[in-house]
Amino acid sequence: MKPKNCLIFGASGQIGRNLIRGLTQKNLKVTAVTRNLHQKGYILKTQANPGYLEIVETNLFNVKKIEELIKKTDVCINLVGILFEKGPNNFINIHERFPSIISNLCDKHKISKFIHLSALGIENAKDSKYAISKLKGEIEVRKNFKNTIILKPSIIYSVDDNFTTMLMGLLNLSPIFPLYYEGKTKFMPLHCADICNLIIDIIENDISNQTIECIGPEELTFKEIIQKLLKLIEKKRFFIPIPIFVANVMASFFQILPKPLITKDQIKLLYYDNIPSGQYKTNLDIGKKFELDFENEVEKYCYMWKETGEYAKKK
Ligand SMILES: NC(=O)c1ccc[n+]([C@@H]2O[C@H](COP(=O)([O-])OP(=O)(O)OC[C@H]3O[C@@H](n4cnc5c(N)ncnc54)[C@H](OP(=O)(O)O)[C@@H]3O)[C@@H](O)[C@H]2O)c1
Repeated sequence: MKPKNCLIFGASGQIGRNLIRGLTQKNLKVTAVTRNLHQKGYILKTQANPGYLEIVETNLFNVKKIEELIKKTDVCINLVGILFEKGPNNFINIHERFPSIISNLCDKHKISKFIHLSALGIENAKDSKYAISKLKGEIEVRKNFKNTIILKPSIIYSVDDNFTTMLMGLLNLSPIFPLYYEGKTKFMPLHCADICNLIIDIIENDISNQTIECIGPEELTFKEIIQKLLKLIEKKRFFIPIPIFVANVMASFFQILPKPLITKDQIKLLYYDNIPSGQYKTNLDIGKKFELDFENEVEKYCYMWKETGEYAKKK
């Protein structure tokens, strides 16, 4: 039987926005949860036809309100995640406590499925607080609710991302570009549409109780990603290998900022390859090959970082 209601936490982010469009196009009703309706309402409202989308504002730890939402849903999707900590907005609260609360409620109200987004390449990163918290979150949700599907994606890109768009912005600004670990860390970037299609497949089909590592079609080092972006925006830059102690000094300054460019914890994480661990199935093992090619897809939106902006758009 087709589930009717999907409840999304973290709906205003990159994956959430794309997912709302995909789910509502399939006639599934979505309840999108945000912490700030005034700030995020306008982005959310435009993602679906009226009648298919309800937007609810709540604090993530308002258990009573969250329970009311989970009670009414068939599928719950957790897309809430952070890359840096600020006070109580820390990894333990966001990646461990919050998933634990909602997975317990999913069990209490016997909903059909809980889909939880974790991350790839965190198993070995035992010195990163981000990685530890994501792993502990996985253990919590798996323990609390039987029908949990954990997705562990490599880096996700799209026009709505905070990755290629941020990097192209930086590459535009400066004639030099710093490389940590000589840019050798490996990634398998996947397009946001691919992970959203996988989530929709999981909701519609008989995929349950699994952990799936999600990877794109190509393995690229960080340096290769930057080289591809430079080619796309038609720029040449000098790469400067940065010793880790210098990177850490720079990060100590950055992490004072409200939205740091990079933190010391991210520098630790960057040391580890973002490729399958071999412990779980990947999307390929369940017959879902992601075909969208990094360079082809970024080419569609990179024109804004070229010299002549929209006039550089390929006809
Ligand atoms: N993007 C990637 O490359 C990537 C790779 C691996 C794993 N993942 C995981 O996939 C999930 C979704 O990723 P995404 O790229 O869609 O994330 P995103 O764009 O950063 O969006 C996350 C959403 O979470 C909500 N949120 C709730 N509480 C928050 C808090 N305390 N601090 C910050 N945001 C909060 C925000 O929505 P409101 O402001 O509306 O509340 C935000 O829009 C995350 O768990 C992430 O760790 C992402």
